[in-house]
Amino acid sequence: MPDVNLAVNLAGVTLKNPIVVASGTFGFGREYSRFYDLGELGGICAKGLTLHPREGNPAPRIAETPMGILNSVGLQNPGVDAFIREELPFLRQFDVKVIANISGNTPEEYGVMCEMLADAGVDLIEVNISCPNVKAGGLAYGTRPELAAEVTETAKAHAGNVPVMVKLSPNVTDIAQIAKAAEAAGADVLSLINTLRGMRIDTKTRRPVLKMNTGGLSGPAVLPVAVRMVWEVAQAVRVPILGMGGVSKGEDAAQLMLAGASAVAVGTACFADPFAPLKVRDELAALAAEQKLSAISQLTGEVKPW
Ligand code: FUM
Repeated sequence: MPDVNLAVNLAGVTLKNPIVVASGTFGFGREYSRFYDLGELGGICAKGLTLHPREGNPAPRIAETPMGILNSVGLQNPGVDAFIREELPFLRQFDVKVIANISGNTPEEYGVMCEMLADAGVDLIEVNISCPNVKAGGLAYGTRPELAAEVTETAKAHAGNVPVMVKLSPNVTDIAQIAKAAEAAGADVLSLINTLRGMRIDTKTRRPVLKMNTGGLSGPAVLPVAVRMVWEVAQAVRVPILGMGGVSKGEDAAQLMLAGASAVAVGTACFADPFAPLKVRDELAALAAEQKLSAISQLTGEVKPW
């Protein structure tokens, strides 16, 4: 089979292949580094960070669902400072682009974190305005165009030369509207989709399975929603898209790219199989080779709608 050039570009950041691991599904890479060289990946999106350390929500906070999982982790993390001191140097040992994911309670907190991370030299900052599991910030910013724009503008003003990627929520009526607001406010890249709000109830106890009652749904069940939303956003903006949501096979990644994504994140699949991102990469490359493409980027946006 002919060689396919797997490199892709996200706002000036070249990934050696289009496969990124999604925030919150790969920790800071340490556990996975026992299985393979993290430099095999295009990018690593680190566990979501906040300005101060957080313990997250009470357990149970993970539940299985048909073809997916619900989580209400609540942004458990050691804080941005500890990330810069202890985790970034570890990740920097590998030839891989490092993406920091941040959530704030206020636009100002996003600004402070962007400045710290830009100074620390991350490759890309993913501004999370779509976490469904926290009371302040999170989804509140991702469901209103004016707030999405305010956070994006503040992040951009403090990120220096580091590109800002805004992570969008599927829990909205019109995702293209939020995407356009983020782009107009200066977003360099958009990532989508975060999880879909969901709920499971134990019929014996009549209690919700998650202590927070609701959580975010991810896994193969959400792939068609992700493909549809990437397609809608791709028609509304010009900035590149990192597509994600339920990817576990090369064909899933190809669907997101055809819909308009330049790169693809593998998330929940990592929990069941640490090698999933590499399998997706290899299957995607094989699919492109079968279709006689010379570059994987030739898939982006090439869907032929009826
Ligand atoms: O609850 C969580 O930590 C989830 C974060 C997110 O979906 O962005």
